[in-house]
Amino acid sequence: RTVFVNGEFVPEADARISVFDRGFLFADAVYEVTAVIGGKLVDYAAHQARLRRSLAELDMASPAGDDELLALHRELVRRNGIDLGSVYLQVSRGAADRDFIWPPAETGPGLVLFTQTRASLESPEAERGLRVAVAPDLRWGRRDIKTTQLLYASMAKSQARRDGFDDVWMTENGFVTEGSSNNAYILTQDGTIVTPSLSRSILPGITRSAVLHGAAEAGLAIEERPFTVEEAQGAREAFITSAGAFVTAVVEIDGVRVGDGRPGDLARRLRRVYLDEAM
Ligand code: PDD
Repeated sequence: RTVFVNGEFVPEADARISVFDRGFLFADAVYEVTAVIGGKLVDYAAHQARLRRSLAELDMASPAGDDELLALHRELVRRNGIDLGSVYLQVSRGAADRDFIWPPAETGPGLVLFTQTRASLESPEAERGLRVAVAPDLRWGRRDIKTTQLLYASMAKSQARRDGFDDVWMTENGFVTEGSSNNAYILTQDGTIVTPSLSRSILPGITRSAVLHGAAEAGLAIEERPFTVEEAQGAREAFITSAGAFVTAVVEIDGVRVGDGRPGDLARRLRRVYLDEAM
């Protein structure tokens, strides 16, 4: 694989990052994952806009202009022959002597891009629906910024896997925030799509935005408000969205079946519509 590191396309084995890179030492870095379907970047403009926002929130310099970033994405997709997969982009504050105080901006941001391939749009997990565990959300308080500080989400998902679940839904003050790396939704018994409203507690998902937009256009009822694990367990359907999972049904929450325990009609339909539009 070819990767892009600090100004150059290089074979992954030749890529080098300083041990003093603040992304490495402090998770002082932000990232984006953009899906690639049929060789095309899905919803790229929205990912770029969110990246700009993450950088601004952390007072981090921009590594490149918009046109250049898009060109780097396209070039890497081309070089690696990606038909189906994703492009990962990370911007770190760069390398500087280890210090809790942010170094001057002239340290320069570090920019890394690489690609990942996926075998198929479908997966056995998506077809049968996910079984999610429930865990307290112990992440930091600025989850609206897409930083590489992913240790708690990784820990909670790993524990969920060890316990026989596929993923985990996290809760705070009694309400579901989101999945380990996806946004969470339910369909109530009376047919309303419910998902937490945007705040510092969750990431403003690009897939979330696209799916809610499509659902609103189709005339579906949507409420952006908190929901509890109990409400989700008693819902007609549950599902998640992300650039990696697209729309994927959740069929079990903390051991309790949702609906009849199979992917619901709405989740399947939203997934189909989303993928059709992405192609
Ligand atoms: N994760 N919430 C969290 C905590 C996430 O990490 C992600 C994405 C999402 C969904 O956002 P989007 O629809 O823009 O992908 C929600 C990416 C895919 C990842 O970390 O791999």
